Amino acid sequence: MSQKNAATAVPIHDLMATRWSGRAFDPARTLTREQVTALLEAARWSPSCYGDQPWRFVVADKASDPAAWQQALDCLVPFNAGWARNAPLLVVICADPKFGHNSADNRWATYDTGAAALALCLQANAMGMSTHQMGGFDDAKTRAAFGIPAEAPIMAIIAVGYLGSDGVLDDELRQREHAARARKDLGATFYAGQWGKAFGA
Ligand SMILES: Cc1cc2nc3c(=O)[nH]c(=O)nc-3n(C[C@H](O)[C@H](O)[C@H](O)COP(=O)(O)O)c2cc1C
Repeated sequence: MSQKNAATAVPIHDLMATRWSGRAFDPARTLTREQVTALLEAARWSPSCYGDQPWRFVVADKASDPAAWQQALDCLVPFNAGWARNAPLLVVICADPKFGHNSADNRWATYDTGAAALALCLQANAMGMSTHQMGGFDDAKTRAAFGIPAEAPIMAIIAVGYLGSDGVLDDELRQREHAARARKDLGATFYAGQWGKAFGA
C-alpha cells in the first residue's frame, strides 16, 4: 500500500519514483523529535536565491504540541481535515517575501520555499513516511492561529506520517488511494530548445 511507483520513460531514482501523496495515515504512529528534526534539516539545506533561505515553516507536531496540531487541523478545509486528522505532523509552509540582506522584494521566495517543501517530502519518503501537501486551508484562520505576518504568503500545509490501513478512509478516498499515478506526457510540459516544442524521450 505504501508503494505506488511512477511510470517513467527511463529509470529514475527511487526517492522520486516512489514518492506519492497518500491519505491513509496511521493515527497510532507518531514521530520522534529526531525524525521531525530530520525532515526540517532536509528542508534547511535546500538551495535558495542569495542563500537567503526565505522559507518559514510552522511545525505542529501532535506528539509534542497537541494544541498547535489541533489548531492546524482546524485550519484545513473539511475535505482535507477528514483524512489529515490521522497525520501526526502538520507543517505550515510560508515564505518571507523580503530579502534578509537588503529588505528588497525577493521574487524567488516562493520558488525557494517550494524547493524546501519538496526536500522535506523527499526526506520523509526516504524515511518510509508519506507526505501530502494541501492548498485547501483557510488563509485568514491559519494566519491568525499562528501569528503569521500579513506580508508572508502561506503556501501550503503538509500532512506527514506513516501510512497504515486504508480502513481509515471512506470508499471514495480508498479508491483514490489505490489509483495509478498519472502525469501529462513529458513533451507537454518539457520543451526542446523552444517554448511549445515538445521534448521527446
Ligand atoms: C501546492 C499543492 C496543493 C495541494 N492541495 C491539495 C489539497 O488541498 N488536498 C489534497 O487532497 N491534495 C492536495 N495536493 C496533492 C496533489 O493533488 C497531488 O500532489 C497530485 O495529485 C499528484 O499526486 P502525487 O503527489 O501522489 O504524485 C496538493 C499538492 C500541492 C503540491
